Parts: sequence; structure tokens; C-alpha cells
Amino acid sequence: MSERLDRLAAVCGGCNRCALSSTRTNLVFGMGNEAAKVLFVGEAPGEQEDKAGLPFVGPSGKLLDLYLGSIGLDRTKNAYIANILKCRPPHNRDPLPEEIAACLPYLREQTKALSPAFIVCLGRFAAMTLISPDFRVTRDHGVFYEKGGITFMGTFHPSALLRDPEKKGLALNDFLGLEEKLKEKGILK
Ligand code: URA
Repeated sequence: MSERLDRLAAVCGGCNRCALSSTRTNLVFGMGNEAAKVLFVGEAPGEQEDKAGLPFVGPSGKLLDLYLGSIGLDRTKNAYIANILKCRPPHNRDPLPEEIAACLPYLREQTKALSPAFIVCLGRFAAMTLISPDFRVTRDHGVFYEKGGITFMGTFHPSALLRDPEKKGLALNDFLGLEEKLKEKGILK
């Protein structure tokens, strides 16, 4: 890890800004290639992520890896994955506003250190937090937004796609739109 991310991960490891620090098994800082130009942001670690200390390692992670692979992205080579929350909410309940407020400065600092050109928000919590509080996934998925020198796009959360497989085609279209943009910018060949 770069020294800046290393320091941030150490600070996060000692964080007790919210109650989730007392119920987590492991903090889930994020993983991927730090030089990647695309950052994917999910909601919060689930049970398997909490055990492993890594993001998207359960069934939704397998689906995410398929979508990444379909457009030439790979979390070990040219993508980075993080979450809005770095600790698992008990029983995978929705993140609370105070938990998001407590954790968001870490993601902002992580984003500065990674310096991505694109941020893809996976699901409504990430999109409402990073793109707009009015974001509605069914209405706004696949749309690109420029903010602060970064291009944002929101799409369906992989867990939502596992619950409602009919949306998988819409999500694939969002990824194909992303592929086109990444090619335009010379990020993908
Ligand atoms: N769901 C998320 O939003 N993030 C993970 O890391 C795993 C499941």
C-alpha cells in the first residue's frame, strides 16, 4: 500500500467514531490496484466481508467480478473497490445516517489518495451519498455525472441483482456504457 493509504488504513483500524466498531470482526478498508482509474463503491461489508476483511468476497462479489470482467476490468489489476461504511452493520441492516457521516471522511481521504477518474456507485446508498440525495437507481442508473474532476455513475447493487435477476441486463448496459467512456478516455484499450 502507498504510505498515505497505509496511514489511513491504520487510522481506520483504530476508529471508534460509531458503534459499528464494537460489533465488527474486521474493518474492511478496500482492495484493488491503487493506480486504478476506476473506483467502485458499495454500501457496507456483509458477513463474509466482515470475516475476511475484504470487500465483495461473497456471492454479490462474485457477480461484481463477472461484470468487471465483461468489460476488461479486474480488481487485482485495474479497479479498486471500497464501501461507504468500513464496518459491517449488524444483520446487514441499512447504514444509519450517523454511521455514514462518521465514515465518509475516510472514503473521501481514500479517494484523494487513489485519485480515480471514475467512481461507480453500486446501489442507492453509495449513489445517494456520493452523487445526489435524490438519486433513484431505477431512474438514474447508467447516467454519467461530472463532479470535482471525477466522472460518477450509479448502477444496481449486485445484491439487488441477485434478488431481482431481471435487472441484470440493465446493469450490463450500464457497464457497457462505462466501458465506452473508459475507452474514450484511453483508460481501457
Ligand atoms: N455489499 C456491499 O455493499 N459491500 C460489500 O463489500 C459486500 C456486500
